[in-house]
Amino acid sequence: MDDTTIFDDDLYRQIIIDHYQHPHHQGALDCPTHHLEGFNASCGDNLELELKIEDGKVADIGFVGSGCAISMTSASMLTDLILGKSVEEAKKITDAFKARLLGQDETVSQDDVDLGELEALDGVKAYPVRIKCALLSWNTLMEGLEHPEGLIMQ
Ligand code: FES
Repeated sequence: MDDTTIFDDDLYRQIIIDHYQHPHHQGALDCPTHHLEGFNASCGDNLELELKIEDGKVADIGFVGSGCAISMTSASMLTDLILGKSVEEAKKITDAFKARLLGQDETVSQDDVDLGELEALDGVKAYPVRIKCALLSWNTLMEGLEHPEGLIMQ
């Protein structure tokens, strides 16, 4: 199945295809401080996310994985948005994006949060199974940021 067929908007579809075909920040880091692993039990796809956190900021980020266009596009967009952000800012963006996809916008402030190209993924809201695809990398990131003590590589 072509994952992009669920998106009506041609512009959004093209953004997704571009990220899928040319993912940003794909690959493992040389010296990550965090190595995070995510898994979508409903399809078996997986993703590894690596971060280099210095002085409370994401100084470098990379990912490897296999998955559908939606999960890989979302991971690529995640790396663009999170690179250079503080851990607190990264959590805020993650909360805002999850709330947006889950239709809980009113429960999480979207103020001062720039979701950038992520709005191209709005079309998945109508497909609960695909929401898991779009959130695979974000849930992986959140797990790492909330439990960094168990994931820091020494
Ligand atoms: Fe597996 Fe989308 S179908 S992550």
